[in-house]
Amino acid sequence: MKSKIMVTGGCGYIGSHTVIELIKSGFETVIVDDLSNSSEKSLDRIQEITGVLPHFEKVDLANQEKTMKIFKKHTDVKAVIHFAAHKAVGESVEQPLMYYQNNLFSLINLLSALEKYRIPNFIFSSSATVYGIPTNLPITEDEATQRPFSPYGNTKKVAEEILDDVVKSAANLNAISLRYFNPIGAHESGLIGELPNGIPNNLMPYITQVAVGIREKLMVFGNDYPTKDGTPIRDYIHVVDLAKAHVIAVERLLNQQNEAAFEYFNLGTGKGYSVFEVIRTFEEVTKTKLNYEVTSRRAGDVPQLYAATNLAEKKLKWKAKKGLKEMIASSWKWEQNVRGEG
Ligand code: UFG
Repeated sequence: MKSKIMVTGGCGYIGSHTVIELIKSGFETVIVDDLSNSSEKSLDRIQEITGVLPHFEKVDLANQEKTMKIFKKHTDVKAVIHFAAHKAVGESVEQPLMYYQNNLFSLINLLSALEKYRIPNFIFSSSATVYGIPTNLPITEDEATQRPFSPYGNTKKVAEEILDDVVKSAANLNAISLRYFNPIGAHESGLIGELPNGIPNNLMPYITQVAVGIREKLMVFGNDYPTKDGTPIRDYIHVVDLAKAHVIAVERLLNQQNEAAFEYFNLGTGKGYSVFEVIRTFEEVTKTKLNYEVTSRRAGDVPQLYAATNLAEKKLKWKAKKGLKEMIASSWKWEQNVRGEG
């Protein structure tokens, strides 16, 4: 058995897929999750897929005392992967304080615990949103960060800045920030996937919910962007590819292969697809006609975002393998499974 890794938000969408990949690579895992936007069922699913039940601590990381207690219990943790955060863009515009409180207090409490318990390795779940409206495409890690449109996005940018300061001041702390583009897809088993609370904000869960009959139609937010078909272009990435990158990042820190105390990597495929292309591919892959209507633009959407992938390929030796059809097929399998359950 390799080292013990703490995964905050490990019952959630990206977290649960990452726990599976960690277990498959021989790591022991401890999930810390308050289950505010995830389910304890993920634990059983992880066990069903891997044969291993992760340790589990139901804790809200915004509570400093409780956060310290988990570290006191798991003193042998060698690295922390921090996913736990609120993530709904629209909700963050309405309740910015809730977002700053939750997302930043939890980070600060974790970093304080890392300092106290001398845990030297930290992986942060960041987002392409830190680039704001990029001036160059594809987006490289050298692109200057900009103030993101939403308070949610800003919590990611501020968190990276906090990490940068803390890593500089600490004698022994190394961190990697992974900037995700648009994660979609689900585990091939169909046992875990994305399950948004209420009305989905994001394109893929909205599409699958329309196709399965929960929502009437997809609203396409604008077809007058300066792109090939007028709809915005995004870099969709399979969540399992994304999860694997986290395992590689953890190993990079554990084996002290990092070249700076704080490193940043984009995680995308480098390939952009428009909203219409996603809809057409969905219809083709699932043989289902999708009900949709073009409506006005959504505030804050940028025309095009796709990643330069060279740095992750060179330094992490990681490259996304799964294409759009595989992403869509797995999202669809998951949606059908989860609804079949009742
Ligand atoms: N879209 C629709 N209809 C919908 C939902 C989305 O047309 O019902 C379109 C959006 O306009 C956009 C594309 O589908 O062009 C993708 O939208 P998503 O909401 O799925 O993804 P975003 O690129 O807007 O959001 C992602 C992450 C956020 C992050 C943001 C900014 O999900 O966490 O990128 O980088 F903040």
